[in-house]
Amino acid sequence: MRRFLVAGNWKMNTVRQSAVSLAAELSAVASTEEAGVEVLVCPPYPYLLPVGEALGGSAVRLGGQDVYFESPGAFTGEVAVEMLRDVGCQYVLIGHSERRAILGETDVVINRKVRAAIAGGLTVVLCVGEQLSERQGGQTEAVLDRQMEGAFAGISDSEALGIVIAYEPVWAIGTGVTASPEQAESAHEHLRKWLSRRYNPDFSEKTRILYGGSVKPDNALSLLGQPNVDGALVGGASLKSSTFVPIIEAARKLSG
Ligand code: PGA
Repeated sequence: MRRFLVAGNWKMNTVRQSAVSLAAELSAVASTEEAGVEVLVCPPYPYLLPVGEALGGSAVRLGGQDVYFESPGAFTGEVAVEMLRDVGCQYVLIGHSERRAILGETDVVINRKVRAAIAGGLTVVLCVGEQLSERQGGQTEAVLDRQMEGAFAGISDSEALGIVIAYEPVWAIGTGVTASPEQAESAHEHLRKWLSRRYNPDFSEKTRILYGGSVKPDNALSLLGQPNVDGALVGGASLKSSTFVPIIEAARKLSG
């Protein structure tokens, strides 16, 4: 049984005070380790430290929203793997669709980031997903295959164990339009088969595949209830405990 991961991607939101109070509320809700559910928050870089402090000794993990692939040095504006580790991160999001589309990240760049993060001991949440036009054109699986091949290039079986996949159909992100549980399940099943072919069935069975894209309290149970959906990457609904906690509760219910 794979452990659910419920992850909050705060994107470029919150200020220090709201970030710290949200973290404090979540640390009360997920104060101790649970066998069935793991909780992660990814605040903006400037708030990693105060959020980490507010999470205290709770079971809520801290993650970065991105990372650079080079070691510390002359790379203005970038943040190194070592720095994320140093401020308490265990996780990092890589390849989010906003970084692919707005910041122009390619599969090659994403692969370098994934490799650097794994080498530095971070667990990667690798985001993949198709645009609306690609889905309408029947390209969903081909797009996912291309993104997976790009991201996993040169990554060995043992290195790949440090990767969680997040399937995020771009048309469902921030739009209020969610993939149906059947659409999510079908993409997740496809990704799991890809992992099985590229690595092996055992590895594929162990790898967590999260769904992201307008996950809300009212759809969390049906999405997380799909056999190949192992958690959620939540944007908008992760910014308030009143909407994020019910998603954690849905995962608890399904795992318990
Ligand atoms: P959303 O964002 O939940 O606001 O759709 C999800 C994400 O981009 O990770």
